[in-house]
Amino acid sequence: MLIQNDEITPVKAPTLHRRDFLKLAGAGLSGLLLASSGLSSIAAALEAPKQDASLKTLPELGVPKRFPLIENGIDGLSAKQIQAHLKLYEGYVKKYQSIRQELLAFSPEQLTNVNATYHPFRELLVEESFALNGILLHEEYFGVLTPEAKPMSVYLKSLLAKHFGSIEGFQAQLVASAKAMRGWAILGYCPRYKNLSFYGLDAHHTFSPMGVHPVLVVDVYEHAYLIDYGTDRSAYLNALWKQIDWTLVEARLSSI
Ligand SMILES: [Fe+2]
Repeated sequence: MLIQNDEITPVKAPTLHRRDFLKLAGAGLSGLLLASSGLSSIAAALEAPKQDASLKTLPELGVPKRFPLIENGIDGLSAKQIQAHLKLYEGYVKKYQSIRQELLAFSPEQLTNVNATYHPFRELLVEESFALNGILLHEEYFGVLTPEAKPMSVYLKSLLAKHFGSIEGFQAQLVASAKAMRGWAILGYCPRYKNLSFYGLDAHHTFSPMGVHPVLVVDVYEHAYLIDYGTDRSAYLNALWKQIDWTLVEARLSSI
């Protein structure tokens, strides 16, 4: 195991509640936690009313994000590997925009004979989910990679240990999920059941649980590591574990 965490005591039947998080942030543990991960602003944001989401125009949908921290390579993932991967991601952004344009171009008359066996509108709907999830998942994946180690806070360690029995249990679930799937392993939070769990996707739009917020996303398609590791997924996962910014993982979790 890559994490040593002997001080954490496993707790059974855990659940994650936002109020519990805020309670923790306000209790004795808070000084260290707030200082280490900027949670004071997150806690304040949680209490503020949600802002209205602004509608994006089609041209804006075609603009890929930049990931300057990692685009020149990081330990364990070369610049060649990451840039090839980013190019793939940018392709999804462009394709999503063109699919949206094609969907909106159908006239009401053209939509009268749509059916679930075959129709161009149906095919575009299917690929819209594939392209959009291709964007969202890649942005979550690239977004927590870091050139410098950003270890877990005491709070995050404690939270994960509560949900998975121990940090070793969490890491074992992560690695097993990443080895079991053909596309993605996701640590996700389900607001309905207030549960933190791993989910697996064989493709961008296959087995996507509704309403689950991705907290940590691991790309296990071979295109994510083939240049650097061939087909050695275990070596890729070992390298990846060391390059995760756990402070961002914690911030994502607390912002849900
Ligand atoms: Fe990918």
